Amino acid sequence: MAPVEPRTVAAIVPAAGSGERLGAGVPKAMAPLGGQPILAHAVRALVAEPRLGLLVLAAPDGLEEQMAGVAAAVAGGVPVVAVTGGATRVESVRAALEVVPESFEVVLVHDAARCLVPVEVVAAVVDAVLAGAPAVVPGQPVVDTIRELSEQGGSRTVDRSRLRAVQTPQGFPADILRRAHASGDPRATDDAGLVEALGLPVTLVTGHPRAFKVTTALDLVLAEALVAGQEA
Ligand code: CTP
Ligand code: MG
Repeated sequence: MAPVEPRTVAAIVPAAGSGERLGAGVPKAMAPLGGQPILAHAVRALVAEPRLGLLVLAAPDGLEEQMAGVAAAVAGGVPVVAVTGGATRVESVRAALEVVPESFEVVLVHDAARCLVPVEVVAAVVDAVLAGAPAVVPGQPVVDTIRELSEQGGSRTVDRSRLRAVQTPQGFPADILRRAHASGDPRATDDAGLVEALGLPVTLVTGHPRAFKVTTALDLVLAEALVAGQEA
C-alpha cells in the first residue's frame, strides 16, 4: 500500500467575483456547467490532490453558506470554510488567507473559474513548492502573435517564445504568501506578483489547456463540451 501522504496543503479558492463578462445572471462560481455549479467542478479538481487538507472559499457577501454547501458536497471529506470576499481578487485571497491555520505548510490559490484544471497541474505546483520554490505558477505558451503598443502610437512584435500565459493554481510556502500579502504591493495583480515584489523568484511549471479560465459565454461553450466528454 502506498504511504498516506500528510495533508499539508491548504487551497484558497477566490470565488467572490460577480462574473460580469460571463453575464450568467448569478455570480460566476454558481453558474451551471454540466448540471453543477462551476465551483463544484473547481473543488473536485482540487481535492483530487491527496495532500490537500483544507479548502477556504472567498464568496460574495451573503453567499458564504450556500457556496460552502456546494463545495462540501463534492470535497470528499476535506474541510471547507467560506469567508466573505473583497472588492478585488487580491483582497478576496487575503481574507481567505487570514483563516488558514499556521499548521499548513503550502498554500495554493486557485480561481474557481479555472474549474477543469487537471490534477497533474495541481500536483506539479505542490511538488515544486515542496522542492523549495517561493512561488510557483503554471504557464502555457502564448498562441497569438503579440504586438506591444508604443507611446508614439506605433507598435512592435514581441518575441512570443519568451512569453507564458499564467494559470492557477499558484502555490507558495504559507509564510511567504503571508509576507507577500502583508506587504501588499499595489502593482501586483496576482499572488505570484506579490511574492515577486518581495524580490523572490517565481517558478513556472507546465500548465494545461484545460486550466483555461471561464471568462465569457464562449469559454462556457468549451467547458460544457469538455464536461460532456466531447473533447476535440
Ligand atoms: N474574484 C474574487 N473576488 C473578486 C474578484 C474576483 O474572488 N473581488 C475571483 C473570481 O470569482 C474568479 C477569479 O477571482 O474565480 C478570477 O476572476 P475573474 O475571472 O475576473 O472573475 P470575475 O471577477 O467574477 O469576472 P468578471 O471580471 O467578468 O466580473
Ligand atoms: Mg474580474
